[in-house]
Amino acid sequence: MQTVNSSFMSESLEFTKNADRATRYAEIAPQIESLLSGETDVTANLANVAAVLKQAFDFFWVGFYIVKGGELVLGPFQGPIACTRIRPDQGVCGHAYTTRETVIVPDVDKFPGHIACASESRSEIVLPVFAKNGDVFGVLDVDSAQLNDFSDIDRFGLERIVRSIEAAL
Ligand code: SME
Repeated sequence: MQTVNSSFMSESLEFTKNADRATRYAEIAPQIESLLSGETDVTANLANVAAVLKQAFDFFWVGFYIVKGGELVLGPFQGPIACTRIRPDQGVCGHAYTTRETVIVPDVDKFPGHIACASESRSEIVLPVFAKNGDVFGVLDVDSAQLNDFSDIDRFGLERIVRSIEAAL
């Protein structure tokens, strides 16, 4: 088993390179939970989660949009520069925000209103992140350069990670 161990601050991330996604989600989830349990700063935690997901899966873009004044505003992310503000009626992110549900888009060109921050993005998954009072705090957006790259394996894996983010909010 080949593992990847890279240091960031006093923590290190270990996962099995080239293992299937379910295995990698299972490997990184407890490490994210441990990472978040030791830190109360929301920006620091979101930044590290984005970094872990980028490193473990090499997704094209991984990041957060945070609800501010009724809009989604760009938060910590890994990947190319992105749109800074998304209205609730716009894009996959706005859809996940207003419906409060995870959205998987197999082909972004077929999603009405999709916002193309980068033409390389071909499919995506967006999950709402809930504040303690039940309001949507923001969304986790993961984009792939491959068509049809996300399945229920990603939904379950990322929802577990989102639950640990919510616990740390
Ligand atoms: N594609 C998203 C916008 C965010 S970027 O892809 C980073 C959307 O349609 O909401």
